[in-house]
Amino acid sequence: MHKNVGYQSSANLAGPQKEQQMTQEIAFRPFRSIQCRILRQSQVRRTFLFAFQAGSPLVRSLFASLTLLVVATAVPVATAQKIQLSVDVSKPGPKIDRNIFGQFAEHLGHGVYEGIWVGPDSKIPNTRGIRNDVVAALKAIRVPNVRWPGGCFADEYHWRKGIGSPRAVTLNPNWGGVIEPNTFGTNEYMDFLDQIGAEAYLSVNVGSGTPQEASEWLEYLTTAQATTLAKERDANGHLAPYKVAFLGIGNESWDCGGNMTPDYYLSQLKIYSRFVRNFNPAQQDKQQMLKIAVGPGGGEPRWTEWTDAIMKAYQNHTWSWDMNGLSMHSYTVVKWPPSYTSVGFGETEYAQILKSTLEMNDLVEKHSAIMDKYDPQKKVALVVDEWGGWYAPLPGSTPGFLAQQNSLRDAVLAALNLNIFARHADRVRMANIAQMINVLQAMILTDKEKMVLTPTYYVYKMYVPFQDSTFVRATFDAGTFTHDGIMLPRIDAIAAKDKAGKLWLAITNVDPNQSAEIELSLVGINAKSAAGETLSASRVDSVNTFDAPNTVVPKPFSAKAQDGKLTLKLEPKSVTVVAIEQ
Ligand code: AHR
Repeated sequence: MHKNVGYQSSANLAGPQKEQQMTQEIAFRPFRSIQCRILRQSQVRRTFLFAFQAGSPLVRSLFASLTLLVVATAVPVATAQKIQLSVDVSKPGPKIDRNIFGQFAEHLGHGVYEGIWVGPDSKIPNTRGIRNDVVAALKAIRVPNVRWPGGCFADEYHWRKGIGSPRAVTLNPNWGGVIEPNTFGTNEYMDFLDQIGAEAYLSVNVGSGTPQEASEWLEYLTTAQATTLAKERDANGHLAPYKVAFLGIGNESWDCGGNMTPDYYLSQLKIYSRFVRNFNPAQQDKQQMLKIAVGPGGGEPRWTEWTDAIMKAYQNHTWSWDMNGLSMHSYTVVKWPPSYTSVGFGETEYAQILKSTLEMNDLVEKHSAIMDKYDPQKKVALVVDEWGGWYAPLPGSTPGFLAQQNSLRDAVLAALNLNIFARHADRVRMANIAQMINVLQAMILTDKEKMVLTPTYYVYKMYVPFQDSTFVRATFDAGTFTHDGIMLPRIDAIAAKDKAGKLWLAITNVDPNQSAEIELSLVGINAKSAAGETLSASRVDSVNTFDAPNTVVPKPFSAKAQDGKLTLKLEPKSVTVVAIEQ
């Protein structure tokens, strides 16, 4: 993700000027490069060009709906028009990997400390220092994996400072320059994963660490043999080797991870891929650890060239190194520095943010096309391991903590992105929303002993049936919602069959004012009814707060077939997930 706050390096300054600049540097460490600002502006321009680029199904449906709009202006009956949605279950698509519902927890603001870790002596109910309310909430959304410890933090993290006792007290220069107590380290992370039932996605330090440091971390975690490091793990309370499902080799190595060129990064990737081994006996033949290389942070030539270089090297890789995934980072920001507010906005900002978020489709297709060139069998997954809405920090909060509220707009944004990932399930096999608790587009917000679940959390909960389901193509005319000259598809939908063979539909009504009637035609299914949940609220900026936690919560939703037809009536600005009963 490229970003800029008009930051100037302190390197050429002196005295008090340098000191003042360095304070800013601590708060805004990862935000740099004038070039990035230019890139961001061109991305905004591209937002408006998006509708005119042929190729993606979404755009094709937008074109079709423009025709509809012309008809609709002549005959003002748009509200009453039924939308035909047809699903043919006889043509199953790829598996929707449950890992696209992954999470990301960085040592940033209150993401880990307070959000997950309160310590064993806290009055907040906890299990070995990990708060119980958060664990229960995360279990309910069946988190498949958690990426940790960063983010930019990962490339300055030295794992030995976070094991045993006493722990070294260090700094977190990336995010506000605050104290890093290291009380949440490797064993605590693995304990947390165990409590919520998720897999480890460890990001190793390529920027300021060494291959040996990373390789010893993996030995400490995974060896079953009685090495000195395994004995240390045992002394720290865990005799059995841990499982590490995913290994991220660096983070944004083109920016906060060390400003590397593709060639320089490739040389690091090969070394880390070779020497950072997983020794767990259970992960040798089956369930092997998947290695994820740093990938692009946008759609401009700088990023397509990066993807091209890494994938070209992959095509020619020898026995001595390998990769199984290429990461991609893309936030919905619109304007840098993030100035859109997360609360108290209107329909214009709603439309602008959603328009921008739909660029994800274009980005996925652009990088997938490059990957197809070198990897037509799609062995390497596109891993969107940082995505989500990034808004202005909440007034009064520490700017480097990236604290923001989460509204109904974010629920719609989440559903639209999850749908894009599902439609590209053959290549996108993992994604991690940023970030899990108290940071950016979070699932959960906490304040000391209080906890509230966000609208985004509820989308993840409603989408649980799509985890490891089989994609089924849904065909529909999306229609158009236009506001202030911003055109958006009015409807978005995906369909999938779960392992038991049940058909699920997720339908988003983007239009904030008009309800939508969806007439289903299900080929190969005699549908009697549909039942599930719908998420909406009175305003696009409705949020859940500690005092009013139930403003945006799912409500039961059902529909019965009449005369052999199943019609779903969707509220404006809503996300609905239903199972079809036969
Ligand atoms: O999620 C916040 C930051 O955004 C991450 O640390 C970094 O990887 C990205 O730039």
